[in-house]
Amino acid sequence: MILILHSQEDLRLAHAETQALMPKAVSHGLWSTVKRASPTIRRLAYSRMALRILWEGRAGSFWKKGPPDFTRAMPKGSFAVRFRSLDGDSGKTGSGKLDARKVIERVAAGCRGKKVDLAHPRNTIWCITQKDRLFIGLQTWKNEERFAGRRNHLRRARAPVSLHPKLARAMVNLTGVRTSGMILDPLCGTGGILIEAGLMGIRVTGQDIDRVMVDRTKKNLAGFRIQGKVIQKDVFLSRQAVSYVVTDPPYGKNTSIRGDAAVFYARIIRKLAAITRKRIVVSFPRTYDPRPTARTCNLKLVGVFDHVLHRSLTKVIYVFEKDSRR
Ligand SMILES: C[S@@+](CC[C@H](N)C(=O)[O-])C[C@H]1O[C@@H](n2cnc3c(N)ncnc32)[C@H](O)[C@@H]1O
Repeated sequence: MILILHSQEDLRLAHAETQALMPKAVSHGLWSTVKRASPTIRRLAYSRMALRILWEGRAGSFWKKGPPDFTRAMPKGSFAVRFRSLDGDSGKTGSGKLDARKVIERVAAGCRGKKVDLAHPRNTIWCITQKDRLFIGLQTWKNEERFAGRRNHLRRARAPVSLHPKLARAMVNLTGVRTSGMILDPLCGTGGILIEAGLMGIRVTGQDIDRVMVDRTKKNLAGFRIQGKVIQKDVFLSRQAVSYVVTDPPYGKNTSIRGDAAVFYARIIRKLAAITRKRIVVSFPRTYDPRPTARTCNLKLVGVFDHVLHRSLTKVIYVFEKDSRR
């Protein structure tokens, strides 16, 4: 069994992203579990790490039997044991049954013949506790993505507005696209969504009405050694049928929408419905609700996520699926 520990920034998004990539995952608050490890775990934006569970149970029962033997479950090389309480304290659980130091010592004693290396361990065993539950697991993945280093102002070519890379990655994942698949962003700006998809190995196609944006996206993709097709095109003239669309239409003061924003957004929804075969992940400002229009064009809503960008702007991310029943 694999435990995926989510980051607490946005748990709903973390669960939805996990479910989209691993439909058999089961959500449990701060973590999800899956029976088998999958390489797609590495794509998760709003998760911290994955553990192969070696022991789990009530904290009290950890002390009842003799020390567990983890020797055979441990891969070759040195190890370190770490402890994390998800209750926001320093290791004492609510029931007072757990003391971080004692747990670590007992787990380390269960790894006989293995060398401890606290500075550069080859393997890390985590003891994770919440309330009276304890998980002991071997870390199989740690999220080391440097999202902050890919923010708009640090890229080769900047945009007036661009999504945070972590959010862009989660949006791509919400499509459920396989790593061998392809996504289209038909309003790609400087390519924030395409960069995250491309870094996960997904094939990317971008379009933007503005030639300057097209050139900037090309520069940005090249900066990350991502190959992708990027062309200048008005979304309303797009005829390319694709399985997955992920996009972030213009909004707010920094982007120019000629005429009524609601009319423009409704046209976008209709166009995306016409060109997409499977899933659309699209963000809108809170002031616009795409659901009534989506219903008229055969789109089934499968998720809605509020995401506060800053004090004056909350984006709402919608996940729509082509309704095959109609
Ligand atoms: C908010 S930006 C996209 C930002 C991008 N998702 C990112 O993270 O870098 C919206 C983009 O939509 C483009 N756009 C506006 N109207 C369009 C249209 N009719 N067809 C294609 N692109 C359009 C704008 O030029 C702008 O670059």
